[in-house]
Formats: sequence, structure tokens, C-alpha cells
Amino acid sequence: MTARIIDGKSIAAAIRRRIADSVRKHVAHGLPRPGLAVIQVGDNPASSVYVSHKRQDCREVGFHSEAYELPAETRQEQLLALVGRLNMDPAIDGILVQLPLPQHIEAQAVIERINPDKDVDGFHPENIGRLLLRLPGMRPCTPSGVMTLLRHTGEPLDGKDAVILGQSSIVGRPMAIELLNARCTPTICHSRSRDLQAKVRRADIVVAAVGREQFVPGTWIKPGAILIDIGINRNAAGKLVGDIDFAAACAQAAWVTPVPGGVGPMTRAALLENTLLAAEQHSRLG
Ligand code: GUN
Repeated sequence: MTARIIDGKSIAAAIRRRIADSVRKHVAHGLPRPGLAVIQVGDNPASSVYVSHKRQDCREVGFHSEAYELPAETRQEQLLALVGRLNMDPAIDGILVQLPLPQHIEAQAVIERINPDKDVDGFHPENIGRLLLRLPGMRPCTPSGVMTLLRHTGEPLDGKDAVILGQSSIVGRPMAIELLNARCTPTICHSRSRDLQAKVRRADIVVAAVGREQFVPGTWIKPGAILIDIGINRNAAGKLVGDIDFAAACAQAAWVTPVPGGVGPMTRAALLENTLLAAEQHSRLG
């Protein structure tokens, strides 16, 4: 079997074109442009790259965007106060605080200060709860982007066994709920899980979010599986690679996402979708 590539880059580009179209219509109706505020504390190089990509996406689709680059020594109360002001700002529909935050700031307190209606990351407990209960709300961007990729394959999802490698609050756990909501049977694996190979080998869908190159070797892959690689690692040659052995995946799976160009662009597209949704809700309420 030769796997088909799930091209996140082009699927995300199509989503951006659709969003840009909606923004043009909003503006033609006299509505304000959707507004996104992105806050970065400190100068983590990976965060700086992500934030600049998010701003570039905003420009491309016609969103209003504001960037807050705060020094690493910023006190938690100052950050909470900024979030509080943005919660009240009518030009801002979405607030994103780039993670990780410096050690002295309690990230959960900051996440919980964001008005759930402006929580375009979908990390607020209210939004996670809404996802769990299958109620409408802001959905965490990476799992939401993965669901869009899975739907693009055209494969029926219901009844499929899905294994998620990684139990983080922002990826693994909401990913399991998304898959459950799509009527898959999800299993979340973590560092204490036993016999990973047997679990992955049985899975029709594998979502890898470990952050270790070659974590999933070819011998673990069920022939015909759908493989979603969320890992972003730099190998010894300096090349970006995922968590799954890509050559083996291409030979054995039915579908596979590349790294780069798979899940990454979809996370960014999902953020734009959430911001547009927030703006539509705010204009309906306002
Ligand atoms: N850091 C890594 N991924 C993310 C994300 O999706 N949102 C935020 N806010 N920070 C991140």
C-alpha cells in the first residue's frame, strides 16, 4: 500500500480563502473586522515564530490584530490586568496568550481570566466542558484542525479504534473527546501506558503528539491505518520531522500527514475559524 498524503497546507489555505471571503462580506455589511489579540511573554524563539505566523494569517484574511510582546519579568497581576482590559475591548473578539509562560506565572490562572467567549484557543475550562458535553463553543485548535484533516480523507470515522499518544491538556485530552464525539473509540496513551506497540498496532487511527523523532516505528503501524503526526522535531541533519517514521508510514498506512505541512497549518486555520466564530457571536449579541 502507498499512503495518500493529507495535505494540511492546501486544506488550510482553502480555509483561509473562505474566511477572507466572510470578512469581506462582514465589512461590506458595515460590521467591524474580527479582532485577535496575541500576547507573548518573554522571547521564547519557537513562540516568536508561532506568533509571527498567526499575525501573518490575520493580515491575509483581513482580521484586525494586536500584538502584545511583554518582557519575561512581567508580573502575573500585570498580565491578568491586560487580559481583563482585552475582555472589555469591543475591537477584540479573540484573545490568545502564547504558551509556555515564564515559570513565575500560573498559566491556568491566566487562561481562566480570559472571557470564555473570547477564548479562541479553547483552553478555558468552560470551553473544554462544552466540548465534553457536545455543546457549541470554542474548540482547542490542534484537535479541531486534526478533525478537519480526518474528515477530508472521506473515510467514515464512526466505530474506528483511535490511539492518541500524549495526554496534554491542549492536545491529547481534547483530541480524545473530539474523536469520541465523532463516534470513534479513543485510547489515550502516556508514559505509564503498557505495551504501546500492541495498542498502536490495533489502531485504525493514530494521533501522535509525543515530541520524539521516530517514536512510532514502521513495525507498530497497522496496514491501512490513518496516521496523524502532531510532533515537530529537528533531526540530526537539522530537518523538521514528526513522531512517526514517515517512510514506513508511506509504505504501510492508507493516509498520513507530512511534517511540516500537515497539522501545523491546520492549528493556525482553526484559530482563524474560532476568531471568526467569536466575532459573529459578538456582532449578534452587540
Ligand atoms: N503553544 C503551543 N501551542 C499553542 C497553542 O495552540 N496555543 C497557545 N496559546 N500556545 C501554544
